[in-house]
Amino acid sequence: MVDGKISEIHGWAATKPGIQVEPWSYKPRPLGPNDVEIKIDYSGICGSDVHTILNEIDGNTMYPLVPGHEIVGKVITKGENVTTLNEGDLVGVGAQVYACLRDDCKECSRGLDPHCPHMVFTYNGHSHGGYADAVRVDANYVFKIPAAIDPVYAPPLMCAGTTVFAPMLRKGVKKGDRVGVIGIGGLGHLAIQYAHALGAEVVAFSHSPTKKQQATELGASIFVDTSNKEELDAVQGTLNYLLITSNAKSNQYNDYVRWMDYEGHIITLAVPEGEMRFTPIDFVMSEVNITGSLVGGRNIVKQTLDFAAKHNIRPIIERFPMAKVNEALEHMHQGKARYRIVLEN
Ligand SMILES: NC(=O)c1ccc[n+]([C@@H]2O[C@H](COP(=O)([O-])OP(=O)(O)OC[C@H]3O[C@@H](n4cnc5c(N)ncnc54)[C@H](OP(=O)(O)O)[C@@H]3O)[C@@H](O)[C@H]2O)c1
Ligand SMILES: [Zn+2]
Ligand SMILES: [Zn+2]
Repeated sequence: MVDGKISEIHGWAATKPGIQVEPWSYKPRPLGPNDVEIKIDYSGICGSDVHTILNEIDGNTMYPLVPGHEIVGKVITKGENVTTLNEGDLVGVGAQVYACLRDDCKECSRGLDPHCPHMVFTYNGHSHGGYADAVRVDANYVFKIPAAIDPVYAPPLMCAGTTVFAPMLRKGVKKGDRVGVIGIGGLGHLAIQYAHALGAEVVAFSHSPTKKQQATELGASIFVDTSNKEELDAVQGTLNYLLITSNAKSNQYNDYVRWMDYEGHIITLAVPEGEMRFTPIDFVMSEVNITGSLVGGRNIVKQTLDFAAKHNIRPIIERFPMAKVNEALEHMHQGKARYRIVLEN
């Protein structure tokens, strides 16, 4: 049995609801035969970290919580059964760290491993996340970062990139489709790039008019200020897909239906508090489909990284030292991040 090299992991934990983490350490689980130990170089801050720290998702946060599920670092130890990774490999970990991956699992056998009944999220459960100096993770959920990608730009691809690319792959977004993206934050600014690289025409919707220039440079051909009625009217009935990545209140979602072309797909990725309200006539008249999508399974994480390497998709990032994580969280919470914060050790 191989022993890990690190006996104590030093991280930053939320201990109660509030935009605040504090130094906290824990003893990692014994290094299992299929585990690797990773020394963390970089960790992105996802909108879900903020929701979870604030206990805004179903009130299910388990404190103390070390957030962070956009992890990039180097393998420093591997368990005896790990054949796909080696010490020194530059790797990433996303929002999920375990699924059974058995052929007789209803979810895993269909590539729906994020829904596996044995699924383990990277934090808020049986393990802790990336606001730390190290993690121990099952090797099935540790992904090599392609050499073309500078490691500091890789963390946002692990959750944000994967989450937006997953529905595009699964629903077959293709050249010529009109793809709307509402909310130009960590997820949204990557969604523009992935959709554009697939050949789609991208419409960016934002409540921040100052984001127009960058959204356009990233590949949006139309920018809609969501407070401008004329701009909204101009895109009515035109979208084949709409990815909701905005934390705008969910009671606004029924407005979005009128932007859709018939048989279009609205895909909710964001998880703001509150309910969606629709009436049956909204669907009867529009024939629009509404669905959601949860992160992305193993195959999708790999495709997300490869596609980014091939099409030169990179997040726009702001770098903060890990020791300034509280400043970084405040910056993110105030909606000032442009467009993803990466913490560095
Ligand atoms: N489904 C999944 O598996 C999954 C995975 C990761 C994240 N998520 C969720 O996706 C959402 C976006 O995550 P993110 O990391 O992209 O967050 P983010 O960087 O904070 O972006 C959220 C965007 O929402 C827009 N927004 C509109 N109204 C807002 C308001 N009242 N307050 C704050 N933001 C507002 C802003 O864009 P504009 O300025 O352009 O309007 C903002 O940039 C979060 O709810 C997160 O939990 C889901
Ligand atoms: Zn995330
Ligand atoms: Zn399974």
